Amino acid sequence: MRGFDPRRRAFSTWVDHTSFGYDIVEAIRPKKVVELGTYNGHSYFVFCQSMIENDIDGLCYAVDTWGGDEHTGDYGESIFEEVRKHARDHYRGISYLLRMLFNEAVGHFEDESIDLLHIDGLHTYDAVNEDFTNWYPKVRPGGIILFHDIEARQSDFGVWKYWSELQTQHETFTFHHGFGLGVLRKPGEKGPADEHPLLQLLFASDEDEQHKLRQLYIYNSEFLEARNKARRVKWKPDHGGDGKPGRPDRSKKEQ
Ligand SMILES: C[S@@+](CC[C@H](N)C(=O)[O-])C[C@H]1O[C@@H](n2cnc3c(N)ncnc32)[C@H](O)[C@@H]1O
Repeated sequence: MRGFDPRRRAFSTWVDHTSFGYDIVEAIRPKKVVELGTYNGHSYFVFCQSMIENDIDGLCYAVDTWGGDEHTGDYGESIFEEVRKHARDHYRGISYLLRMLFNEAVGHFEDESIDLLHIDGLHTYDAVNEDFTNWYPKVRPGGIILFHDIEARQSDFGVWKYWSELQTQHETFTFHHGFGLGVLRKPGEKGPADEHPLLQLLFASDEDEQHKLRQLYIYNSEFLEARNKARRVKWKPDHGGDGKPGRPDRSKKEQ
């Protein structure tokens, strides 16, 4: 994460997990990343940016109808246009946008071929159950699956319930902050990436170390947010033209 500066800052409830998204890609060096549910691309482009900046030889796939669902509501065509432009401008050759239903896309991937799967579609219990059940065979043994919104309890959100069931059957790690992010490792062969300190901390550390890891990513998301706010402070030169440094422009309200 050292020096990481997200290139795209789209509004998203995923914002609290930005640094972890970057770091998990750096740690496992995936050949294939698949995201189910991309919307304006916040999480997806964090994965893509990490692939490029860490010189990882792999491909990223974003699957979405870009038509919205019961929770996001319908959003306009401009969201897809922006995502497509950003992908073309910055990630040509490593990023593929699959504009279709998850159930249509699943047939395009071979079994046990995905290293990192991010499930972030509709957040009802039944929808996340369907997404996990359909896509689990596509993840390679030892691969990682991320679940967003495992702490969200509003309306008919049910990822929290599904996640609590998965935790009893799988190797998992839970980030509680923000809307929560679940990390699940599929059983199977361990590769060199499993020796990476981040994976050791996620899956082979004691409670004290896990607590520190959670704190680290809370502080990190606060840092990224504070840095964004600092960048929004506008400066203007003194009127006297005496060459002294300018003062913050307090006429602009902080957002
Ligand atoms: C919560 S948003 C994704 C948020 C995004 N990952 C971010 O970083 O902010 C969920 C997206 O999943 C898409 N979606 C939900 N169910 C889908 C399905 N069955 N097939 C394709 N897209 C779906 C919606 O269109 C919506 O854009």
